[in-house]
Amino acid sequence: MAIIPDAEMLPTVVGNAKLSGEERHANIHEEDINRLTNIAITQCIGETDANLDAVITHYVETINKYNLRNLGYPTNQDFNYEALAPLLQFHLNNAGDPFLGSSFSLNSMTFEVSVLDWFAKLWEIEKDQYWGYITTGGTEGNLHGILVAREQFPDGILYTSQDSHYSIFKIARMYRMQCVKVGSLLSGEIDCVELEASLLSHKDKPAIINLNIGTTLKGGIDDLDLVIQTLDKCGFTRDQFYIHCDGALFGIMLPFINQALRISFKKPIDSVTISGHKFLGCPSPCGVLITRLKYINALSRDVEYIASRDATITGSRSGHAPILLWYALKKRGLIGLENEVHECITNARYLLNQLRDAGIGAMLNEFSNIVVFERPFDDHFTRRWNLASNENIAHVVVLKHITIEMLDTFVHEFIQKRSIWSKDGHFQPPCIASDVGSKNCACSIHSLSRNY
Ligand SMILES: Cc1ncc(COP(=O)(O)O)c(C=O)c1O
Repeated sequence: MAIIPDAEMLPTVVGNAKLSGEERHANIHEEDINRLTNIAITQCIGETDANLDAVITHYVETINKYNLRNLGYPTNQDFNYEALAPLLQFHLNNAGDPFLGSSFSLNSMTFEVSVLDWFAKLWEIEKDQYWGYITTGGTEGNLHGILVAREQFPDGILYTSQDSHYSIFKIARMYRMQCVKVGSLLSGEIDCVELEASLLSHKDKPAIINLNIGTTLKGGIDDLDLVIQTLDKCGFTRDQFYIHCDGALFGIMLPFINQALRISFKKPIDSVTISGHKFLGCPSPCGVLITRLKYINALSRDVEYIASRDATITGSRSGHAPILLWYALKKRGLIGLENEVHECITNARYLLNQLRDAGIGAMLNEFSNIVVFERPFDDHFTRRWNLASNENIAHVVVLKHITIEMLDTFVHEFIQKRSIWSKDGHFQPPCIASDVGSKNCACSIHSLSRNY
């Protein structure tokens, strides 16, 4: 039986401290060399099953420990897909158009279409009006949605708020599209006054709008209805704009909240995407993309080799992902999903109150499960709780795997650490008023408002 030193199994976790790309690479590489001797693939002969089992068992134990404090990133870890284990005996591949099938018979396209139909109903588009596929995640959904838009409007300008996910700016670079970065409000949602000014100054070109149905850091929801009104006010007719909705996390949550913004193809929107591994919890990255069927011909090509039509970004596509998504939806049902959405939001409110009661600056948008607060002073603490941070703020994304006990332990440790940092004399609560508003800031100038 192989003896594996503990440090060897640690995932490569880095802090968000500002290092150059080269410095980070050097850091990671040096750590890897020190700790990966048992993982390195160096032997000429194959490894024994017992040794491989030992490595994996140890890795699972380590990951389990990390999972107890996994608060910052939107990956729901509350799932059990053991029933699908028999599927690991097959390579399943959905290359091609899910609605046409393919000549590779080990595909799961019937599950894929069933999942797509479910989302089409959720976002209110008729079966014969939509096209879609299961992607590798939200980024691929954005890549596809914006590609469809660009095919419609080759000279279109991409408008998106400064709070958009980094994939949007990357896509603009990849597609060499002109991109206008629009300012956002404190909530993180797009500033429609600024959007209006930008639209008016580029009235001669079609508008491709990327809307955040939940920004990554603050969970701000772009006001789709106001954006549509703004386009109208600026004189953009329906044949002069395309709206892509990046609903990575909230795209599946908002439909279960009565008062929230409605994502609906009955409105003049053109594509919607979500990540499957975020709210729904899938063990590997995946996502859903739905667009209007009428756009698809423009980017499809028939491919004899797979006896299908090529309209997706990648070629080979996971055949397991659609079944994981199908299982996640079937197992919960609409009522299960609705309860889960409300539970996450209730627990997020609980965390907000705990932080604020402890005098820690924090904010939570309406209909959101992303609690934003002052960035912990110590990067080690941030890493310990796997928090995501940016400049002066950090966040917790409250998903189903995050229990009240986890939140209590986190807040308790945060309070303890804060008093230690204060004693050391280096620490003052940072001013986060420009990120979350003065009423949510606990710095020495702004006193946290108690009216919440
Ligand atoms: C708003 C938004 N869009 C897109 C993405 C990218 O999704 P993925 O990581 O599934 O590619 C994220 C991820 O956090 C996101 O928050």
